[in-house]
Amino acid sequence: MTAEIDQARSLVAQAKRPVFFTGAGMSADSGVPTFRDALTGLWAKYDPLQLATGEAFARDPELVWNFYEYRRGIVRKCAPNAGHHAMAAFEQQEGRLVTVITQNVDGYHQLAGNRLALCLHGNIMEDRCHCGCPGVFPATEPCEGEPVPPICRTCGYRTMRPNVVWFGEMLDEAVLSKARDAVHDCDVMVVVGTSGVVYPAAGLADLALQLGKRFIEINPEPSPWSDAADVYLRGRSSEILPQILPG
Ligand code: OAD
Repeated sequence: MTAEIDQARSLVAQAKRPVFFTGAGMSADSGVPTFRDALTGLWAKYDPLQLATGEAFARDPELVWNFYEYRRGIVRKCAPNAGHHAMAAFEQQEGRLVTVITQNVDGYHQLAGNRLALCLHGNIMEDRCHCGCPGVFPATEPCEGEPVPPICRTCGYRTMRPNVVWFGEMLDEAVLSKARDAVHDCDVMVVVGTSGVVYPAAGLADLALQLGKRFIEINPEPSPWSDAADVYLRGRSSEILPQILPG
């Protein structure tokens, strides 16, 4: 794969406005399970895609809240990996405008130092009211034995929920519009660790290809974009990103 690494390295080094589009595979090497990995332990009998919905929360708010507490515990225990740090170091170099568009909710790009991360699906380490009351709040670890979900200070109901996009919910149009603008303006798109099955997010990679942008993909498994990519790097993002991003 040396030739592909060299080709990708050259494309990225010349880029003035690169966009990175990342998915759960970006954090897999941090120890955060991807969405299509089988859940383990207590949650093995649940389908995460069945729990990440407003209907599930309305039906069983405590179950859904505890599922997100389980995921928050993993995010708190794990940390950004070499791939996140390579991207943050790359952004801090002069002479280019780097945009990170992520489907991930773990906040690891921001933790690693990327200043502009467009979080299409929200942030699991924040809470908001399911009724739509104003305000987003840092996720607090509930006290042992405290009933969950927490009470909203505005409406007084036990309707606080993670500030993430659930299935059937709309993305923040302002964030999605900024992401689309970044794709229009970019010269290279680097797609990292996403199965490309969830829209409208996946439409951003489609858009980059339609616009004829140079296109690099990093994924141990082929995705719908791998054949069309200028460079498809078959491997783990924590190993490949440090090789293609100038340190
Ligand atoms: P998926 O779980 O669908 O896909 C993870 C991708 O990461 C797969 O293509 C894997 O091959 C790849 N992968 C695994 N390990 C990797 C590694 N070490 N390095 C690089 N890639 C690796 O996760 P997403 O594509 O992010 O939506 O899923 C997109 C959306 O589906 C999520 O944001 C979530 C989910 O439903 C919402 O929550 C709204």
